[in-house]
Amino acid sequence: MTGKGVLLVGPSGTGKTALAYAIARELGKDTPFTVINGSEIYSTELKKTEVLMQAVRKSIGARIKQVRPVYQGVVKDLKVKVGRSRINPYAVMPREVQITLATKDDERTLSVGEEVAAQIYQQGIRKGDVIWIDAETGRIVKEGRAKSFEGAKSYDIEVERLVDIPAGPVRTQKEISFTVTLHDLDMNFAAQKLSFGLMFGLFTEREISDDVRRSVDEWVKEKINQGIAELIPGVLFIDDVHMLDIEAFSFLTKALESDLSPILILATNRGLTKIRGTDVESPHGIPLDLLDRLLIIQTKPYSENEIREIIKIRAEELDVAIDEAGIEELTKIGAQTSLRYAIQLIEPASIVAKRNGRQIITAEDVRYAAGLFMDVKKSINYVKEYESLMLK
Ligand SMILES: Nc1ncnc2c1ncn2[C@@H]1O[C@H](COP(=O)(O)OP(=O)(O)O)[C@@H](O)[C@H]1O
Ligand SMILES: [Mg+2]
Repeated sequence: MTGKGVLLVGPSGTGKTALAYAIARELGKDTPFTVINGSEIYSTELKKTEVLMQAVRKSIGARIKQVRPVYQGVVKDLKVKVGRSRINPYAVMPREVQITLATKDDERTLSVGEEVAAQIYQQGIRKGDVIWIDAETGRIVKEGRAKSFEGAKSYDIEVERLVDIPAGPVRTQKEISFTVTLHDLDMNFAAQKLSFGLMFGLFTEREISDDVRRSVDEWVKEKINQGIAELIPGVLFIDDVHMLDIEAFSFLTKALESDLSPILILATNRGLTKIRGTDVESPHGIPLDLLDRLLIIQTKPYSENEIREIIKIRAEELDVAIDEAGIEELTKIGAQTSLRYAIQLIEPASIVAKRNGRQIITAEDVRYAAGLFMDVKKSINYVKEYESLMLK
């Protein structure tokens, strides 16, 4: 799907935004997902195309694998020597730690200095934890609690993950992988350049230069060729895409063609309308050459049955109980006004019910709550009725 796009088209409140978020959840937390609203590109500080470019770069990840020398094992013993902190003479800090790590086959006692000792302290590492320490940087990562480790205190409720004690030597090589976005890398590369720039008084950048982006792309491609990195195309979701103008659209069309491009999900509730920045009318206010590259999905207003289902799910999520008649009342309101309005009434209705000393929301509570607020239609009627009294 990389380099392709999806356009969600449908009236307001038909679940376009909800669908895009659902897709993001399905993709998992390692897949970059960026949300912007079409109107966000008109910021005063950055160029429109820069805002879009950053959004595109935030939506592409690189998973980088590294083989690192580490010490691993279960913490068998921990001896801490404390001393006064150098920064605050009244505080006592761990100065030096002797830590004994054991695997199924090996055991080793290491002496570690202040920085590593501080991490042990901060992460609350104790006997029976399975950890690894990066041999070069001293970074400690806790994997979890060892299953049935003798001599370790265990609690009835352990919130931590239970893991096996590793096998093999304590000092070993470990493959570590982490995911960064191209935007993270851009910022990182730009910061490195910046430190030179600062020396020569060239501090101007808020926008990342093409040069920096080119070096990042080259760097990533090189790592991919070496088999160290893997590209993870993510998703860029642009809501209210009709807010973009002609320049922004041509930027997107071009971005879709590049070999580093995310999956684009666009959403709009507009029909035939003018493309911003032109006098040309086009479906959804999107230029035809971009439309041509998109898969168009229609969302339709929910039926009464669907509204009822969604309200039930929402009530469950909000952890409130509503009786049958209450659900029916909300469904009726949802069908007559809007689903969003009906959903928003659940919480006030729940407060009304509680005030009346009830745990379960009834139809009466829903009607009372609905009487306190206005939906869009009521609000428009109200404004019309009192037009002459309002400030213009
Ligand atoms: N399938 C669904 N399941 C649960 N809630 C939904 C579903 N579809 C829409 N909603 C809820 O209905 C409301 C309107 O949906 P939304 O996605 O914002 O519509 P749109 O973006 O098309 O205007 C939101 O509060 C959303 O969470
Ligand atoms: Mg929406």
